Amino acid sequence: MDEQVQQLIEDLKVAFASTYAFYLKAHYYHWNVEGPDFPQYHEFFGNLYQEVYGAIDKMAEHIRALDAYAPGSFNRLEELSAIKGDDNIIDGLKMAARLLDDNDKLVPMLISVMKKAEAVDRYGTANFIQDRIEAHRIHSWMLRSTVKKL
Ligand SMILES: [Fe+2]
Repeated sequence: MDEQVQQLIEDLKVAFASTYAFYLKAHYYHWNVEGPDFPQYHEFFGNLYQEVYGAIDKMAEHIRALDAYAPGSFNRLEELSAIKGDDNIIDGLKMAARLLDDNDKLVPMLISVMKKAEAVDRYGTANFIQDRIEAHRIHSWMLRSTVKKL
């Protein structure tokens, strides 16, 4: 297979696993957040995990369209992901700060994948990833605004 396509596949798998880890972390926070602002955080993390989860299936199918296999075990996803899971119970503000850090890793990763997809004329994949970049920019805005000290 073409070396550039191979590189695209590898990077797309890393972006996929990282997106999955991000989704799961937001869902984990949605379940376990506590404190007086529980309703707001519970709902905020709920909207976040649902939006990101909505992209998981399509992202895996773009990997398949490139004639590669989509990773689907916890082991493999953890191995590939640039985003670490969380086992701690922390306050809602810290949860949002961690997701903001992770989101800031995801955006440049997705930009790099989009450029690689364009370079090998995989415009459908490039367009899909472009939409994901925009979605994560919106998440960035909301997370940034949540953690901002006034
Ligand atoms: Fe729920």
